[in-house]
Amino acid sequence: MSSDLDSPRATTERLLVRQARWVARDVVELRLTRAAGGALPAWEPGAHVELTLPSGLRRAYSLCGEVTDVGAWTVAVHRAPEGRGGSREIHETALVGRELEVRGPVNRFPLVSAEGYLLLAGGIGVTPLLPMARELTARDLPWRLVLGARDRSRLVYAEELVALGGDRVRLLPQDEAGLPDLAAELATVPPAHAVYACGPQPMLDAVTALCRTAGSARALHLERFTAADDTVSDQLGSSDGEFEVVLSRSGLRLTVPADRSVLDVVREKLPDVPYSCEEGYCGSCETTVMAGLPDHRDSVIEPSERPTATTMMICVSRCDSPVLELDL
Ligand code: FES
Repeated sequence: MSSDLDSPRATTERLLVRQARWVARDVVELRLTRAAGGALPAWEPGAHVELTLPSGLRRAYSLCGEVTDVGAWTVAVHRAPEGRGGSREIHETALVGRELEVRGPVNRFPLVSAEGYLLLAGGIGVTPLLPMARELTARDLPWRLVLGARDRSRLVYAEELVALGGDRVRLLPQDEAGLPDLAAELATVPPAHAVYACGPQPMLDAVTALCRTAGSARALHLERFTAADDTVSDQLGSSDGEFEVVLSRSGLRLTVPADRSVLDVVREKLPDVPYSCEEGYCGSCETTVMAGLPDHRDSVIEPSERPTATTMMICVSRCDSPVLELDL
């Protein structure tokens, strides 16, 4: 499997931050255009782009504008105070009028053909689902969307969604309505319908478990938060041990400590190794495994593909054997 960011359709260019606006509490929307105007590459619902921030940090965000708005790409960024700095930088830097390097679009979360759709969103996870809801409406296909958030002020794009879907949109502010009853939502999904979910990991884990129980995992499509609230150390877990990584083409042998990722350690020696989200969902850091037992923790490789996968996402995945040999 090669990285979509290396695909001929993914372009890199400097785009102007033309506009910023608040769309919910702690969520800012950026509108990116070419400085001289003109059409940007086309994209489909589920796609994301990668921004290089003024500090050099690179972060991937779902496109959430209108696919027909060919002159602009729109992303929405949730401020994650406990995150690794990307969202904080976007919120705290005066970006309007500046140009950023933007790479993409890439789509690892495309709409599949189905007779109907259930879209489950947690907080900022609504961003890839909003263009899907627009597309399904335009195609006159049945859909409904459930959007949960801690309180009403954090229901991102709630007005747009209600204007689009009316009573097909269920808004669930947790302080008023409690947590979404995912089991009840899924119980009403006909077998020929597809389920798309995007939000925090506990929500996705719950949806996955419920779909497995119902035997409908094949219809399930998941995407983690595009601006995760998790820190890298949260993802690595505290019980992970250290292991060795052999970079076969470079002739290097490196130690990966329990509290660092393979990507971190490799980048010290190979600074040009590709990466983007550092959260296991974009596929940029996908690397061929020559030997060893990868412990896959990403959301790019399907759980069913993991036993036979010949690649791994080195930003989050680790190793179940003492030594891992990578084609680097
Ligand atoms: S950098 Fe995105 S999957 Fe590893």
